[in-house]
Amino acid sequence: MRIAINVDGDNYEADVEPRVLLVHFLSDVARTTSTHIGCDTSNCGSCTVLVDGEAVKACNVLAVQADGRRVTTVDGLVQEPARSLAERVLKQLPSECGYCGPGIVMTALGLLHDRSDLDTASLRAGLEGNICRCTGYVGIVDAIVETAGEAQPDAWGTGGS
Ligand code: FES
Ligand code: FES
Repeated sequence: MRIAINVDGDNYEADVEPRVLLVHFLSDVARTTSTHIGCDTSNCGSCTVLVDGEAVKACNVLAVQADGRRVTTVDGLVQEPARSLAERVLKQLPSECGYCGPGIVMTALGLLHDRSDLDTASLRAGLEGNICRCTGYVGIVDAIVETAGEAQPDAWGTGGS
């Protein structure tokens, strides 16, 4: 099936089997490197991206379901405050790993898109589908809350790209 997906502002067209996952389209067709596969059970959240502004696990979505839609990865966060959010969250992660970071950033963006005045408890609950094996989440959550507090409430509406 011929599909076309906009990834971080560029259009990618390909013939794909109906069973191809979005996460594989991103790596094999769009050649993105920031969307990670960290499990085979849809539990880790490392593959999270935005599809038309909504955070989804790209290992849990078929590429054909994203046909004609706009996918944003952490590499596509060129506008503020999304860019600062990504920088601050990624800075909290151990430099030797950081595997979970892009997925956490994209989940946070999806949460802020729905509700810009997220408190710490709601944010922690919203991030329960993202696993970090290296940190205790404290620095990550603080970075998100801090960035959200500095941004205009309507600044998260476009999904950050
Ligand atoms: S790879 Fe783990 S949730 Fe998608
Ligand atoms: S920094 Fe290693 S999994 Fe989060």
